[in-house]
Amino acid sequence: MRMRKKKNGSRRIENLSALFIKKDENSAYSAPNFSDDLPLRIEIGCGKGDFVCGVSVAEPEYNYIALERVGDVIMSAAEKYAASRSLGSLAPNGGWKTPDGRIFDGEAWDIPAELRGNVRFLCGEAKEFLSSLPDSCVESIYTNFSDPWPKKGYTSRRLTHGDFLKEYARVLIPGGYLKLKTDNDGFFEYSLESVGESAFTLVSHTFDLDSDTEFSDGNIETEYERNFKSMGIKIKALKARIDK
Ligand SMILES: C[S@@+](CC[C@H](N)C(=O)[O-])C[C@H]1O[C@@H](n2cnc3c(N)ncnc32)[C@H](O)[C@@H]1O
Repeated sequence: MRMRKKKNGSRRIENLSALFIKKDENSAYSAPNFSDDLPLRIEIGCGKGDFVCGVSVAEPEYNYIALERVGDVIMSAAEKYAASRSLGSLAPNGGWKTPDGRIFDGEAWDIPAELRGNVRFLCGEAKEFLSSLPDSCVESIYTNFSDPWPKKGYTSRRLTHGDFLKEYARVLIPGGYLKLKTDNDGFFEYSLESVGESAFTLVSHTFDLDSDTEFSDGNIETEYERNFKSMGIKIKALKARIDK
């Protein structure tokens, strides 16, 4: 995802670090500390956060971890989420302005636990974070418009490569779901094949999300989805279940 470099990126992440899962010097991840013990969903490659902000309100009976490896991008996602939950806004001269007017600029605002809501952000690599999770602890995994990695030498980086699917199958609960959307025909064909060869059962799929009510009802558009649709590109989607 291309973005102009944001000023003071790490300072801005620090302001809202109460919403982030962190990795310590021993590569251990901090606990998400959700206030409610709800089933967990993970979005891999959340980009600027449109999807997780929408789905976490539309389906509030879940907790969500939004994973993104690019710092400036996840910073925008966390700020969008915080603003959408009435946790303040960017201050005109820098820093994060809380609803009661305090400014945090490069230091963490200890957001009261009951205000943090059901989303946490993690800046990092999907594979690394998933490998830290115990078996059978995730209800659904979402990948929206992930990089297709079209060149042959890079197939192992595709988020539907067999190695990723094995890891998803391990961390998902029995009956848990993998849900994917993409603009890319080649990547979609590859994903259908890869899922077909895996332990997942393909529940449903579409080559045109907008004309398939199973997928379009309640669909939450992502930033990339809006862009591709405005170019007339049809959105492909699949839903696969792991029975174990
Ligand atoms: C093409 S963008 C799509 C963003 C968003 N999902 C959307 O639909 O608007 C894909 C995003 O996934 C992130 N990403 C790709 N592979 C990842 C991985 N293995 N771990 C974490 N983030 C990843 C990229 O940094 C990028 O921001």
